[in-house]
Amino acid sequence: MPMQNVRTSPIEGQKPGTSGLRKKTTVFQRPHFLENYVQSTFDGIGGIEGKTLVIGGDGRFFNDQAIQIILRMASANGAKKCIVGQGGLLSTPAASHLIRLRAADGGLILSASHNPGGPDADFGLKYNGPNGGPATEAVTDEIFKRTTQITCYRIAAADDLDLSKLGTHSFGDMTVEIVDPVADYADLMKTIIDFPKIRSLFEGGFRMCFDAMHAITGPYAHTILEDMLGAPKGTVINGVPSPDFGKGHPDPNPIWAKDLMDRMYGADAPDFGAASDGDGDRNMVVGRGAYVTPSDSLALLTAHAHLAPGYRDGLAGVARSMPTSRAVDRVAASLGIDCFETPTGWKFFGNLLDAGKVTLCGEESAGTGSDHVREKDGLWAVLLWLNILAETGKPVSELMNDLWQAHGRCYYSRFDYEDVESAKAGAMMDALRSKLNALVGVKAGDLVVEAADEFSYLDPVDWSQSSGQGIRIAFEGGARAVFRLSGTGTQGATIRLYLEQLETDPAKLQVSPDVVLQKVRDAALSISQLEPMTGRTAPDVIT
Ligand code: G1P
Ligand code: ZN
Repeated sequence: MPMQNVRTSPIEGQKPGTSGLRKKTTVFQRPHFLENYVQSTFDGIGGIEGKTLVIGGDGRFFNDQAIQIILRMASANGAKKCIVGQGGLLSTPAASHLIRLRAADGGLILSASHNPGGPDADFGLKYNGPNGGPATEAVTDEIFKRTTQITCYRIAAADDLDLSKLGTHSFGDMTVEIVDPVADYADLMKTIIDFPKIRSLFEGGFRMCFDAMHAITGPYAHTILEDMLGAPKGTVINGVPSPDFGKGHPDPNPIWAKDLMDRMYGADAPDFGAASDGDGDRNMVVGRGAYVTPSDSLALLTAHAHLAPGYRDGLAGVARSMPTSRAVDRVAASLGIDCFETPTGWKFFGNLLDAGKVTLCGEESAGTGSDHVREKDGLWAVLLWLNILAETGKPVSELMNDLWQAHGRCYYSRFDYEDVESAKAGAMMDALRSKLNALVGVKAGDLVVEAADEFSYLDPVDWSQSSGQGIRIAFEGGARAVFRLSGTGTQGATIRLYLEQLETDPAKLQVSPDVVLQKVRDAALSISQLEPMTGRTAPDVIT
């Protein structure tokens, strides 16, 4: 197979963000853009000669073409083998599992997660290391450095490989193995979750609706929920992956999974509802008339995980990202296990999981996971919930109420101000940062500031330091506001404002979150001057 060295030059804007490189699809399609980034990734990880890589994506527009380019570049760069999901498909957690199962040297995942897909929407690419998890900051820094120095990339001249045919194929000197994207993942789930128990739940008439949002979890959910666990056909909706996610926004939250929310709050609602995102790592969970915030879901899973076979011996510890509510901290304290607070982004959980310091971890952004892979895992969270529902026999609303009665309730909400002019968003954060030292004791609206700082993380495993990870302001009485800029956006800046209020009075655990959070919202807006400084009067998305 002829190889080519193609001359190129650095392209600006190839710095990986919270989760790999995300850009408009049209940007990825520009000449050399994808190739430069792939070559920089290969070089940034010390070359791929003789290595085995796992490759797959969420099936969004350009997934198929990008995989062909990556395979030709992997071959030209001397890779020994690429393991590719059939049709170029792999959910992010399934890719993480495959890297670990096959002891591969790493993997490339093609996805922009929950961002819309299509020619006018978003595309993304990220590298995961041999532990199956997102590359660490040291690796992404090195990849970025290479993008600024690149002078040429290597690519083989070859016809497209037919990705529909399972089995082993040769591609120049490299082998390409095309695997069923679902089978290994389903086998793993069987070892952690009590399948017979869930099967009998469904046999007893339990009704569920799983919204795959036209994204990657469709085939996984059809196989596991309907074929293996016996949920009636039709339990999974929007189950066929489409390149533009049915023109939807594959983000499992009450805004974008509105149809599911309407069903769950409507007449004759099923017992349990769930949804997953573009690449299958996020989840949303909702009971009949009872939406569960991701932060609360992490707390509940922590409290009950021992009911599932994979966690019978208890949890080593738990971790949450800093903006995630402190509900799980309270459960962890009652269990007598450690609770770690990490910066936003799954990559920060990897070291803790590898070192056996934590078993479960999660983020407020609909991400929950455990040590079974090194990514968050949407369907796994749903299965663990089902296992708990089957064991306790209680509805979601009762489980949540029990949790709040035992530990208090952390009312929680996130405001997103999207596509803000980057300079204005930066100026607001700078101004806030500059007054942090003077904030303690200041009264803002009805609340008094108790502590204020910019979060910085010292990894307790490799002692790497990550600073500038969000501004947090704690108020007397259990309220907290966190400000940070998104690291996954593809246009302008997104300001995220996270609001939280702890309530321990048993009589005040069923109040509307908007009402409870009003004081902390007003205090946060007054301290930050977010509205006058950005020209925004309301967030674009509230979750
Ligand atoms: C967002 C979420 C974060 C998550 C990431 C990748 O990042 O907030 O929790 O890990 O997507 O799914 P952000 O845009 O806030 O940087
Ligand atoms: Zn995702």
